[in-house]
Amino acid sequence: MESRYNLLTNKVVLITGCNRGIGKAILKKFAENGAIIYASARQSGILDVIAEELSNKYTTKIIPVYFDVRDSNAIKEVALKINKEFKRLDCIVNNAGVMEDALIGMATERNMQDTFAVNVFAVINIIQYAAKIMKKQQSGSIINISSIVGVNGNAGQIVYSASKGAVISLTKSAAKELAPYNIRVNAISPGMIDTDMFRSIGETRVNERIQKIGMKRMGSPEEIADAALFLASDLSKYISGQLIGVDGVTII
Ligand SMILES: NC(=O)c1ccc[n+]([C@@H]2O[C@H](COP(=O)([O-])OP(=O)(O)OC[C@H]3O[C@@H](n4cnc5c(N)ncnc54)[C@H](OP(=O)(O)O)[C@@H]3O)[C@@H](O)[C@H]2O)c1
Repeated sequence: MESRYNLLTNKVVLITGCNRGIGKAILKKFAENGAIIYASARQSGILDVIAEELSNKYTTKIIPVYFDVRDSNAIKEVALKINKEFKRLDCIVNNAGVMEDALIGMATERNMQDTFAVNVFAVINIIQYAAKIMKKQQSGSIINISSIVGVNGNAGQIVYSASKGAVISLTKSAAKELAPYNIRVNAISPGMIDTDMFRSIGETRVNERIQKIGMKRMGSPEEIADAALFLASDLSKYISGQLIGVDGVTII
């Protein structure tokens, strides 16, 4: 459903992982609301068509930027590019993430390194570069996508849940440090959302997990995008250091 409230008119935003799932829904929602978006993905060219479509449809600018979030030099270059082109950055959405389940005893060094490189270290790096620009303008909204398992834990997810728990604590620390600059930092903890990532656990487990959701259905990527829109906009201008659960009342 379209939500053209123009809540983000002329705001300059960077979103990671825009090519599918939750990131793609946030890209569309923010474009509908007038944001100028640096849309990131790692596969070169993959956003070119949607960027042009959204730019024309909503009379705004969607600028694709291609990099792997583990590459800190690439993050720096994108921050410099944004600073050069717009001299401001109003919002970042740290959405790109990976999930690899492993029971205790089966978690490999590679899984731990890869998961933390994408889900935690990249988020810290992006915040560091974004904060430099935001401090100068004395405003900004940083939105980190955590997970319900980062709050509650989950069997089989010792690595992933630890990475998403780290996202919550780094959100709170950054919120405290950046509040004097009027930079807000919040996190969203999605429950079970209908994307490739959640479906990757297999149909049987998907159906079992849905039974644990009070509302007895998966969430949609758009429902996460709605929460992100609120946090990006001035409707939340006195809210920082918070974690918004978007999970249809899930018990895990
Ligand atoms: N779906 C859920 O139920 C759920 C629940 C809680 C939290 N979350 C969180 O929500 C966020 C989005 O999840 P999703 O469900 O939309 O997942 P998804 O469909 O698997 O999409 C993940 C996105 O992250 C990107 N990405 C992964 N590694 C990257 C890297 N090294 N560099 C750049 N981009 C990278 C992917 O790019 P490629 O296409 O190139 O791989 C893709 O765009 C994640 O942080 C996830 O942990 C999801």
